[in-house]
Amino acid sequence: MEKVYPTRENGKVNRRSFLIASTAAAALADAQTAPSAVPSRRVYSLNRNWLFGGKMSAGADAPGFDDTRFRRVTLPHTNVELPWHSFDDKAYEFVSIYRRHFRAPAAWHGKRVFVDFGGAMTAAKVTINGHGFEEYRGGYTPFSFELTPHLKYGVDNLLAVELDSTERADIPPFGGTIDYLTFGGIYRDVELRVVPQTHLANLFAKPVRVLESGRAVVARCYLEGPLTQPVTITAELRDGDRVVKSASRTASAPAEYHDIMLEDLGDIQLWSLVRPKLYQVTARLDNGDRLAARTGFREARFTDKGFFLNGEHVKLRGLNRHQTYPYTGGAMPARVQAADARVLRKELKCNIVRTSHYPQSPAFLDACDELGLLALEEIPGWQHIGDQAWQDLAVDNTARMIRRDWNHPSIVLWGVRINESPDNHAFYTRTNEVAHKLDDSRQTGGIRNRYDSELLEDVFTMNDFGFPLRPPNHPMYLNTEFNGHMFSTKRFDQVDRVAEHTIRHVRVHNQLASADGYAGGIAWCAFDYASHRYFGSGDRICYHGVSDIFRLPKPAAGFYKSQCDPAEEVVIEPGFFYAWGDRGGGNGPGMVPICSNCDHLKIYYNGKLRLELDPDRTGYPHLKYPPFLANLTNLSFATWGDLKIEGYLAGKLAATKSLSGEGTDDVLVVKPDDLELNGDGRDATRVVLAATDRFGNPRPFASGAIQLSVSGPGEIIGENPFSLSGGAGAVWVKAKDAPGTIRLEARHQYLGKQTVEIRVRKAEPEWV
Ligand code: GAL
Repeated sequence: MEKVYPTRENGKVNRRSFLIASTAAAALADAQTAPSAVPSRRVYSLNRNWLFGGKMSAGADAPGFDDTRFRRVTLPHTNVELPWHSFDDKAYEFVSIYRRHFRAPAAWHGKRVFVDFGGAMTAAKVTINGHGFEEYRGGYTPFSFELTPHLKYGVDNLLAVELDSTERADIPPFGGTIDYLTFGGIYRDVELRVVPQTHLANLFAKPVRVLESGRAVVARCYLEGPLTQPVTITAELRDGDRVVKSASRTASAPAEYHDIMLEDLGDIQLWSLVRPKLYQVTARLDNGDRLAARTGFREARFTDKGFFLNGEHVKLRGLNRHQTYPYTGGAMPARVQAADARVLRKELKCNIVRTSHYPQSPAFLDACDELGLLALEEIPGWQHIGDQAWQDLAVDNTARMIRRDWNHPSIVLWGVRINESPDNHAFYTRTNEVAHKLDDSRQTGGIRNRYDSELLEDVFTMNDFGFPLRPPNHPMYLNTEFNGHMFSTKRFDQVDRVAEHTIRHVRVHNQLASADGYAGGIAWCAFDYASHRYFGSGDRICYHGVSDIFRLPKPAAGFYKSQCDPAEEVVIEPGFFYAWGDRGGGNGPGMVPICSNCDHLKIYYNGKLRLELDPDRTGYPHLKYPPFLANLTNLSFATWGDLKIEGYLAGKLAATKSLSGEGTDDVLVVKPDDLELNGDGRDATRVVLAATDRFGNPRPFASGAIQLSVSGPGEIIGENPFSLSGGAGAVWVKAKDAPGTIRLEARHQYLGKQTVEIRVRKAEPEWV
């Protein structure tokens, strides 16, 4: 029987090329002994069956070392699970040891075998069968080693990783201080790549002439290996199964790359914010090696009149994102990373995200491509510039980031400065040169906090935390941070504060909308995040997000959400929570914002119409959907009751929001983001735990522990019992490597019990 193995091409699983072998065992046996035809390229996922030994001990990377007491783990992996706040970063700052045994089938003879690490925090000494490679320094960028000369066929091979997760001053972002935590562990995927001697090392699918009638795409093919005889390269543009165009050329002499132009493409759709249409470009060598890349046709330009996508002016409205989560830091699987892009695009309706302050998970960027969320991606670093060797690493990080991510249509700007670092002419001339040389289709930015700093990039990207904002001092000007630490706010802060937090986001976006010279703004930040003891609120959390660390919205998030067209979603988001006496003086919530894209609101207090409101166009004349300011003062406690907000569009009732005046926690919410997971021991989903009023609104002071119990093929990532924090929070449920149904029971002393079920699908086995 023919067996075709799961392959990954250029980081994307090519599902159609699977032909699943009858059983895992048979397939494994076959992989170990397969005598013949290994397809020209095969990529094996190497994420399960790792052995984790905790702290490194002498000789623990040697093949003969007794690892029977090591723990079996899957990647992504954190070297230690942590509470969601108030922990010491020293808890993960240690050197650890990972081991992975595998067999190399005889059929790999004559091929070249590489191990590809997506990311390991922070410095990795990799050995294969006792042979060591040079330490890879850097936690946010991918790295590879060729295993071929050190492999043994048909018997056990040992891949070991001694991983230093301390804050080493020789590696960006370290050497100074940083306002975030890096965590530890092999926290991204690992793969084994088996390829012919001469193979495609990378493929840059670069759309050109996007706004002209002759739309085209250059397939830039990077070859590795000897060119002893000419190699024919065939490139194809595909739309799903349909081949749009194909063209070939012969490479007869070594060159940095070989370009194949695919033109006369006929009807090609653009990639846009609302219709993010994706195509596939493949390159194939005559020895059968093949690489694929996803691409989208779009033109993204910063100009002196702002930002233009496909020739249309778009005011950028976005948030900065740290990729870290409660409990596991960066070690969350693709589904969870991608969920953040969904929150940003679909819930907060942003059109741009900045991957502060490092290249983020490929799954997150894939989701940005699929959802039409633009991205500014930047190199690792924070304020500090190290010595020459450190700078060399940062220049190398720039190249690795771009080579990894140049096929993402969502990325519209490369950030090639260390965030908020001082000027350094020589260093930033280098990072800009590398970026422009590798990718002449994108502009560069470099995030600074000095208005008078030297512009070596294309776009002046400025963190301006003051208000009013400074005027643009360059023709291409983008605000990359505001608010944040200037008004740190918890989801459950006093009502005046959450209302003011909302207004601070509103007023900056209003100013950004006032002049085309501002390309837009990316606020600090999307989600609260873990930081060092000297930053944040004293529990090592920076409460700078418009959502909390569990990705649950604060009132300020409602402003972002309200800026979408009502045809997409009618939004009514109170920029406050409803209480008579939380504000100084009592008498109701106060003079508070309601963020909405309706054109008129009616507010009923205790069943009676109390206010009719239009958007505050005087206060915020530049916003498409200004907030409404509601005077909810002078409410007598004697009449205190529910609040109902009706939203109207062109005179018609479009949406209603009710807030309970009962002051009771009514409902226990236990809500998984997904009801189906892949049974690969890695996949996971968030489960939101919350107490709400009877209308489903958050109860920011609800407390109590929620006792969780799980049965079936799943486990909880997080604290159990979980103590509600500001009335809500979340744990993640991770699938084990078996199919079945996970039943999660959550019990709160007063709110009772809820049970949810998550189905776990049978997953492909891992083949080596
Ligand atoms: C900026 C910095 C961010 C974060 C923010 C807090 O200066 O770039 O990483 O620390 O301040 O508001």
